[in-house]
Amino acid sequence: MPKASPPLISSSGLAFDPLERGFINDPMPAMESGLSEYPVVMHEGTLDPVYSLFRYADVQRVLLDWEIFSSEPINWDLDALNLGRATENFILMDPPRHTRLRTLAQQGFSPAQIESFLPRAERIAQDRISYALTQSSFDLVSKLSAQLTTGMITGILGLPLEDWPLIRDWTNVMQRNTMASFWLKEWDEVRAQGVARVTSEMADYFHGHLKRLARQPQEDNILSVLLTTELDGERFTLEEVESTAMLLLLAGNETTTNLITNFVRCMVHYPDQFELLKQRPDLIEAAIEETLRLEPPLRMTIRSVTADVEFHGTAIPAGNSVALWILAANRDPEAYDQPQVFDARLERARHLSFATGPHFCLGARLARMEARVFAQELLKHVKDIELLSDPIRSDNGVSNTIVSLDARFTGY
Ligand code: HEM
Repeated sequence: MPKASPPLISSSGLAFDPLERGFINDPMPAMESGLSEYPVVMHEGTLDPVYSLFRYADVQRVLLDWEIFSSEPINWDLDALNLGRATENFILMDPPRHTRLRTLAQQGFSPAQIESFLPRAERIAQDRISYALTQSSFDLVSKLSAQLTTGMITGILGLPLEDWPLIRDWTNVMQRNTMASFWLKEWDEVRAQGVARVTSEMADYFHGHLKRLARQPQEDNILSVLLTTELDGERFTLEEVESTAMLLLLAGNETTTNLITNFVRCMVHYPDQFELLKQRPDLIEAAIEETLRLEPPLRMTIRSVTADVEFHGTAIPAGNSVALWILAANRDPEAYDQPQVFDARLERARHLSFATGPHFCLGARLARMEARVFAQELLKHVKDIELLSDPIRSDNGVSNTIVSLDARFTGY
């Protein structure tokens, strides 16, 4: 029997375009249409063939079934992208290669290891909030959330804090290009060169850094742990630690910055919840989960389809990619009562902002700790928050990245 052809929302070729300003600033119409009417959207005109999925059950199914939905990028021309070691890490591998490297890397993310970074997080959060309270206005991203997360990631990886401008530059370039190749209509040499420059600079940087750490291991950072960890007689090679270091830097910095920025925005947009949390600090962790659910730092992720599959009567042949819209899944009325409402008091199904399955975010505990410490300090010292400008967003709608937003904090 012939399969129904995939519905297209618009006749312009691309049903919606994550690199287009309208979508970047307001992706919800496309998400809502995916949740209600068009659960499978085939995008035409992109460099790589890609289908979008939106519903919680569909996104969850794909993330759990790694045999059919592979993390290995079958449609990328890696030589053309010239990404060097940046693509040789376990986020882009399937089991069993993935399992071995992830299990090794997990040694650096034990609860005790993360707990040991708590005083650093508290120190930076206190410093940044004290700073903010002395300003009549400040940029919430560059002066607060990005400084907090960069301060943390440099400590965690044992990098000099004064290298933070370099790290911001790398994360900005990589964020602009994260999964962008799936949406481009033609090859973009400027993007490709930017990515190639950053990956080569990062590789040189970490190569030198790891050699120093290998000579003089330090106990208080994750890379030293990874260099010395042994599991069933196996160790990471220096090259594997190098690519894991790049992965940690890129996966952990921008995402956590977005979470903290968006937590502040949520406190402004839902003032009743801000007041509630001041009275009920025990709800802070739930409020962070609500922020992650409604404002996922990564709006989507991607998988390669390795066998012919079908969703809602639509065939997706092997060889295509599927874009999984976490942003939509987290607001699926089939999974959540009152999905658009932010309420830290509600028991909610687990959101998919850290994914699920074998690639569940390795840094979730760390990101939650950073956000919790920040929120505790905020609620203790800040009585009022005002947002003084509209958020300026990056030019890649795959992530929920705000690059600047003027704010004012008033203390008690
Ligand atoms: C709020 C902050 C964060 C969010 C929303 C987030 C989100 C995600 C998501 C969605 C994935 C799965 C990607 C996929 O398989 O397609 C992932 C994986 C990963 N994340 Fe995070 N992340 C955050 C913070 C961090 C931090 C702080 C680190 C470490 C410093 C980190 C390290 C990783 C690593 C290593 C993976 C790959 C795991 C694997 O492939 O097994 N993340 N993250």
